[in-house]
Amino acid sequence: RTLLVQFLREHLGMTGTHVGCDTSQCGACVVDVDGKSVKSCTILAVQAEGSKVITIEGLAESPDKLHPMQEAFRENHALQCGFCTPGMVMSAIDMVKRHNYQLDEATVRRELEGNPCRCTGYHNIVKAILAAAPAMKSAGV
Ligand code: FES
Ligand code: FES
Repeated sequence: RTLLVQFLREHLGMTGTHVGCDTSQCGACVVDVDGKSVKSCTILAVQAEGSKVITIEGLAESPDKLHPMQEAFRENHALQCGFCTPGMVMSAIDMVKRHNYQLDEATVRRELEGNPCRCTGYHNIVKAILAAAPAMKSAGV
């Protein structure tokens, strides 16, 4: 009965993936499962058996080389408390890839509906995602 998010946080000690609700609405728990963003509170750990799961901890190549989306969040000051940020970053990466690295502001705002942020007002998050799209394309990630 263990949820994927519980397995990551409580069994593996990977607490970068957050839990912000009991209703599958907050998006703080988003991880990448076989190339797709998934709210890890909505699937059982056993359902991910054999899949490649990437969490926020697995994005940066090294402590000195962040993923372009992480870099864009840092550069654009796209966070305040940071609670939503891991899920926001994971969802944003999936968003960029699904739209083939081409996004406009309206699309980004619409796509973020599953990732509420209580702090930022979204403006800098949107800026960061728009900046990250070409950077991800250039970096081939
Ligand atoms: Fe809120 Fe998963 S913990 S959507
Ligand atoms: Fe605080 Fe998004 S930065 S909830």
